[in-house]
Amino acid sequence: MKIETGLQCPPNPEMESQAGLQFSVAIEDDFEEIMAMSQDIYGGLDYLPTRYQAWLQEPNRIVVLARKQGKVIALESVCVIDDGETVLVEGLRVAPSERGKGVAGVLLKFCSQLVKAKHPDVKVTRLTRDDRLGPKDFQKYRLITKQAILLVRFRSEDMKLRLQELGLQGGCQDSVSQDPVRLDPGVAHHLFLSAGLARDVLPNATIVQDWQPFKPLPSNMAILMKKDIDWMVDDAQSPSVASLCTFPFRVPIGDNWYYLNIDMFGKDLTKARRQFIAHLHRHTDTLRGHVMCQMFLDPPLWQPLADFCRGTLGVELVKEYTEQCVVESDLA
Ligand SMILES: CC(C)(COP(=O)(O)OP(=O)(O)OC[C@H]1O[C@@H](n2cnc3c(N)ncnc32)[C@H](O)[C@@H]1OP(=O)(O)O)[C@@H](O)C(=O)NCCC(=O)NCCS
Repeated sequence: MKIETGLQCPPNPEMESQAGLQFSVAIEDDFEEIMAMSQDIYGGLDYLPTRYQAWLQEPNRIVVLARKQGKVIALESVCVIDDGETVLVEGLRVAPSERGKGVAGVLLKFCSQLVKAKHPDVKVTRLTRDDRLGPKDFQKYRLITKQAILLVRFRSEDMKLRLQELGLQGGCQDSVSQDPVRLDPGVAHHLFLSAGLARDVLPNATIVQDWQPFKPLPSNMAILMKKDIDWMVDDAQSPSVASLCTFPFRVPIGDNWYYLNIDMFGKDLTKARRQFIAHLHRHTDTLRGHVMCQMFLDPPLWQPLADFCRGTLGVELVKEYTEQCVVESDLA
């Protein structure tokens, strides 16, 4: 079924027929079929089951499906941000049996043309990649920043006890004490739009939240403010470390498994560790079940925080050092 995309016809019908693919905008009823081809995605940490319904409602987003002989074999989502100048590319996946045949490339091209037709002001494509990028990739991408990824797993109840044993409460009171400060939405909005935070704390003046890289602009903050996020800094007047923690959500890795995402910005290890503890404390207080906690951070902080996780918190690292690249390119 071809869905109304706002276009009179596909951007490039030739491309469609060449690859033998049919494209459509995803609807609610496609969910089961999409999940059926997404079984092994992101090591069981796929966010799409949680986000799918909301994505379909977002005014600036299109979720595009590619079908072969009527069957969904690929998905890509494009979301217009940065006051309409940038398209954020997310969720890309191709059914395992169709990989390595150029499907992703064709779908990405189709999406670019769709965005160009619907949003002519968009100039740039931005995305995060956590696979190994080589010189060929950097011919097409400009690197915005690299973030280390620290992925640990634990039972929420065990972590809660461990934090109590260690006396690590990670309090969030006021900016006079050394405790991290959890920001009210209005304060977070103001602070994350300030020139000082962008210059001194954010990597390349970019807010990366749960894989999504945003420029600090009022329109992007409006998107971020609708999400369930804890915004934290070391000092609300003069921050040097800031972090965003997405509220835990279920992931398909197993029953009663949750994903906890923390984006940590800044270079001070002690302050970063305090904010990490404060986020853990807040969520393990009420959460029951298994947690995959993924923290994105400045690469030099990875090793000492990995040692802290293993040695002090006694938690298991799921992987050794990995990183993600936040990249962009001109819209082809
Ligand atoms: C990654 C994946 C989508 C590639 O699908 P594919 O049809 O085998 O890929 P193709 O043969 O068309 O070629 C891959 C192209 O997509 C690019 N690509 C790979 N991952 C990408 C991503 N996340 N975003 C944008 N482009 C990506 C590659 O750089 C390559 O581009 P090139 O032709 O300019 O070199 C597929 O292996 C998959 O579904 N993997 C599991 C899910 C996943 O890891 N998704 C990436 C999310 S970060």
